[in-house]
Amino acid sequence: MEAISWAPLVLALFSILIIRTIAIGRRLHKGRTLPPGPRPLPIIGNLHQVFDGMPHRCLARLAEKYGPIMTLRFGQTTTVVISSPDMAREVLQKHDQAFSYRAIPDAIRALRHGDLSVAWLPPNPEWRNLRMIYNTELFSTKRLESTKVVRAQQVRELISYVSECCLSRKTLNIGELVSVTILNVLSRTIFSVDLSDLRSESSLEVVQLVQTIMKGTSEPNLADFFPWLKVLDPLGVRRRVTKSMKKLHDIFDEHVDRRLRGEDATPHDDLLDRLPHGDKMECMHDRFIRNAFFTELFIAGTETSANTVEWTMAELLRNPVMMAKVKEEIERMIEPGKEVEESDIEKLHYLQAVMKESFRLHPTAAFLLPRRAERTVDVGDHYVVPEGTRVVINNWVISRDKRVWEDPEVFSPERFLKKDIDIRGREFELMPFGSGRRICAGLQLAVRMVPLIIASLLRGFDWQLPEGMGPEDIDMRETQGIPVAMAVPLRAVPLAA
Ligand code: HEM
Repeated sequence: MEAISWAPLVLALFSILIIRTIAIGRRLHKGRTLPPGPRPLPIIGNLHQVFDGMPHRCLARLAEKYGPIMTLRFGQTTTVVISSPDMAREVLQKHDQAFSYRAIPDAIRALRHGDLSVAWLPPNPEWRNLRMIYNTELFSTKRLESTKVVRAQQVRELISYVSECCLSRKTLNIGELVSVTILNVLSRTIFSVDLSDLRSESSLEVVQLVQTIMKGTSEPNLADFFPWLKVLDPLGVRRRVTKSMKKLHDIFDEHVDRRLRGEDATPHDDLLDRLPHGDKMECMHDRFIRNAFFTELFIAGTETSANTVEWTMAELLRNPVMMAKVKEEIERMIEPGKEVEESDIEKLHYLQAVMKESFRLHPTAAFLLPRRAERTVDVGDHYVVPEGTRVVINNWVISRDKRVWEDPEVFSPERFLKKDIDIRGREFELMPFGSGRRICAGLQLAVRMVPLIIASLLRGFDWQLPEGMGPEDIDMRETQGIPVAMAVPLRAVPLAA
C-alpha cells in the first residue's frame, strides 16, 4: 500500500529531472540556448515532419511556428534551419567565415568527390585555388567574352532544331532541350566537343548521368541522418552515384587522353589547352582532381540553369499577357533579322524583371548547399549554434517572406520594375545564387546564358501548349531535391513567329 502511494512522487521527481536535463542541454553557451524547434521523437527525431512532402515547404510551415532560426533533429544529427533574410544575413555575412564549411552528404563521397570539388571542400588553399580557376580561367569577364562564340553557336543550334520542329509541330520537352544546350556549352568550353545532341535520343546519356548524380546527391539518405550507417550505404545511394560518376570520368579521360596523345593538334582555346600552363592549373594534372572539377561543372551548371529556363517558360505560358510583353520588348529592342546576343540582355528590362521574379518564386536551389558550423557561434540575441551543427538556409521561404514581398505567391515581374534588386548575393531577400564566400562559382556564366536562351526561344517562335491544354492546366508542382525541377516536365509546341 505504502509503495503505491510513493509511486506518483517518484514519477514526478523523475520527470522534473528529465525536463531540467533537457533545459540545461539547450542552455549551452553563456546563458544562450539552441534555437527553438519541434520536439523530436526518439530515434528518428523530426524526420517524419520534413519528409512527408517537399522538405522546403515542410520546413517553411515549421518556421511559421518556431521562427526564422530553429533546431531540428534528423536521426542522430542536429540541424539549424534559417528562414528569414535577417537571419540569413547573420549566417552568411556576419559569421561568413564560421559557416563557410559544408556538411557533406554521404553520396558526395563517391570517388572522393567531396574531398576534391569546389562545392564541398572547406575554405582552404585547395578550394581557393580551384575557385581561382573558375574566376580567371573560365568565368572572368575576359574569358566569358572570348567564349561567347561558343554559347552563340550552341544557341544557334538550339534555334535551328526548334525551327525544324516547327514544321512538324512537334511537342518539345523544354527542360531536356535546354539541358542539352547547356551541357554542350560546358563541354565545348572544356574539350571543344559536343557531349550530347539535340537530334539523337541515344546521345542523352550524359544528360541522364548528370541527372542521376544530382538526384542521388540531394535525395534524403538514411546514411546522412545515422552516420554509423555510412559503411553500409543502406539505400545504395552512394553506389548509384559512384556508378554514374565513374561513367562520366571515363568519358572525360577519353577526351583528355586523346588530346594528350596529340591526336587532335588544332588549337582550341579551351580549358584543356590551358592545362599545361600556370601554377594554379598544376592541380589539374591529378586525374582525380581534374575529373572532380569537370564533373562539378556539369552537375552544378546544367540542371540549375535548365530548370530556371523551364520555370520561366512555364510562368510565361501561364501568363499570356506577360509573354506578349516580353516578346514585344525583344522585337522593339533588337533589330529585325539579327540574332539575340548576350550584350542585348541589359537592354531588355522587362525580361530581366521576369528572370528575377522567376528566381524569386522558383529558386532552383530551394536550399543553399548545406553549411556546417566550424566552431560554436552565437547567433542573434539569444541563440547558439554548436560546432559541427549542419546549417540549412531555406532560400525558398526567404524569397517568399511576407514582410518583404507583397503578394509573395503571385508571379509579378512588375514588382522588379519598381524595386531594383540585385541577385548577386548582396541582398538577402533574393539570393538565387547564394551569398558570401561560398556564392555560386558559375554565377557570371548563368546570368549571361540563361536570359540569352530564353530571349532566343521567344524571339523566333510563338509557343503553344499541347493540344487540349490551357494555361491553367500547367502543373506547377515541384520535384524533391536540389535543384528543384518541375515534377511534370513542361512540354510546348513551337510555331513560327
Ligand atoms: C541558374 C543557374 C544557377 C543557380 C541558380 C545556381 C545556384 C547556386 C547556389 C544557390 C549555390 C550555393 C551557394 C551557397 O551555398 O551560398 C551554388 C554553388 C555553386 N555553383 Fe551554382 N548555380 C547556377 C549555375 C551554375 C553554373 C552554370 C556553374 C558552373 C558551371 C555553377 C557552379 C557552382 C559551384 C562550383 C558552386 C559551389 C561554390 C562553392 O561552394 O564555393 N553554378 N550555385
